Amino acid sequence: MDKKRLVIVGSGSTYTIGMIMSLIEEKNNFPLKSITFYDIDERRQEKNAKAAEIILREHYPELEEFKYTTNKEEAYTNIDFAFIQIRTGGLPMRVNDERIPLMNNVVGQETCGPGGMAYGLRSIKDMIEIVCDIRRYSKDAWILNYTNPAAIVAEALKREFPEDKRLLNICDMPAAIMISYAGILGKEVWDLVPEYFGLNHFGWFTKIYDKEGNDHTEELKRKIIEEGFTPQDSEISEDQSWIKTFEQARKMLIDYPDYLPNTYLQYYLYPKAIVKKEDANNVRAMQVINGREKRVMDLCDKIIEADSTGDIHLKSDIHGVYMVRAAASLAYNNGDIYIVMVKNNGIISNIPEEAMVEVPAMLTKNGIKPFAVGKIPTFYKGLIENQLAYEMLVVDAYFEKDYKKLVQALALNRTVIDTEVAKTILNELIEANKGYWPEL
Ligand code: NAD
Ligand code: G6P
Ligand code: MN
Repeated sequence: MDKKRLVIVGSGSTYTIGMIMSLIEEKNNFPLKSITFYDIDERRQEKNAKAAEIILREHYPELEEFKYTTNKEEAYTNIDFAFIQIRTGGLPMRVNDERIPLMNNVVGQETCGPGGMAYGLRSIKDMIEIVCDIRRYSKDAWILNYTNPAAIVAEALKREFPEDKRLLNICDMPAAIMISYAGILGKEVWDLVPEYFGLNHFGWFTKIYDKEGNDHTEELKRKIIEEGFTPQDSEISEDQSWIKTFEQARKMLIDYPDYLPNTYLQYYLYPKAIVKKEDANNVRAMQVINGREKRVMDLCDKIIEADSTGDIHLKSDIHGVYMVRAAASLAYNNGDIYIVMVKNNGIISNIPEEAMVEVPAMLTKNGIKPFAVGKIPTFYKGLIENQLAYEMLVVDAYFEKDYKKLVQALALNRTVIDTEVAKTILNELIEANKGYWPEL
């Protein structure tokens, strides 16, 4: 196997150390020659980099080079893969995205509703710039993007780079849900084969098979309804917010028993209950700042201070492993099936061709080969078309600098609906996002 050269963009992320651990765990499937870190925030990057250097020295001696830089040319020259995980405005801006809608009795969430819109309008510019920069120095590199809100980012990148066949947007939520399915069925997650349709953070599993072709869908539904649903991935299994979210998936299944829902649908199907549960003074972003971010920084400090990983248990999580295995499938033509975002082009035959949909696809050296879904039933078609119109309007508004389209986007969004509420939230978000959004 020829070894690949990887750059991690947004290397100051809270997910970077987990990604390094996943790259170590998967080194036989995805062998690397070099890893480069790129970030615009030198201080944030350095902490992760110094810890990563020690972890890699101890656990990846085969790696020929590890470096970190804030120089684009150095980062992007001669690379085979780029993993992008940036957060424009950082977690402090996520606090605004979540708090402002919530103060107006509307769902406050990183990727859903007005918060997702605000974050999308910040992410697009940086994402376009990063893809342009990578293409300047490595025109054939595979670019795997996880940056949120992935649905809006994917729509914008599709418009800006319509011919780019090596640009893939991917989300770990379907896989994180499948780990719980595997637990319930007493199987390994990698032994499950899903059928799935939707948009990012807005989809349904229609079937869960095992590798032998046995259908476990009805057994799974029954067990979830009877026994409940809990997160199993190590990163989220102890997290109260994720535990509540998974519980809600059981309720969704009882109310809409056709298919197994993505957990993010709770924000659109039960917005009132969500608002009631959330606390504007302790939004999810604050929990992440005091939780995951602090935990990762403390871990890095400990490793750096000891100049060793010592007895620290290095564990990977589904986020990293899913991305790394997907990359391996592209690199070595494994033909594995992953749920990813692609242009619809008739995959779901009764929704628009140009939609960026999330569906299973075979990942090969020669590209992404999605499987046909066919026609979807009226309820799901209605929900998806509504959400898609919202996403399209947000991206239109970005390129056209159009205030009215953002009012329309929010009036359409199931978390908002009311026009006066839409305008109030929009105006507050415009204030909070000065310098990040285009001038409308
Ligand atoms: P974070 O703020 O901890 O890290 C993001 C890093 O990106 C920071 O170090 C920041 O300096 C850097 N950055 C910001 N703008 C940049 C730019 N223009 N170029 C280079 N670097 C830049 O955020 P996090 O919580 O670790 O999340 C990182 C991203 O990954 C977010 O977008 C998050 O939503 C996303 N994510 C997506 C999925 C998914 O399923 N798609 C899963 C997990 C995380
Ligand atoms: C899931 C989603 C991501 C999201 C992440 C973190 O993995 O797929 O898109 O960014 O959760 O959510 P959190 O609220 O824990 O930061
Ligand atoms: Mn996601």
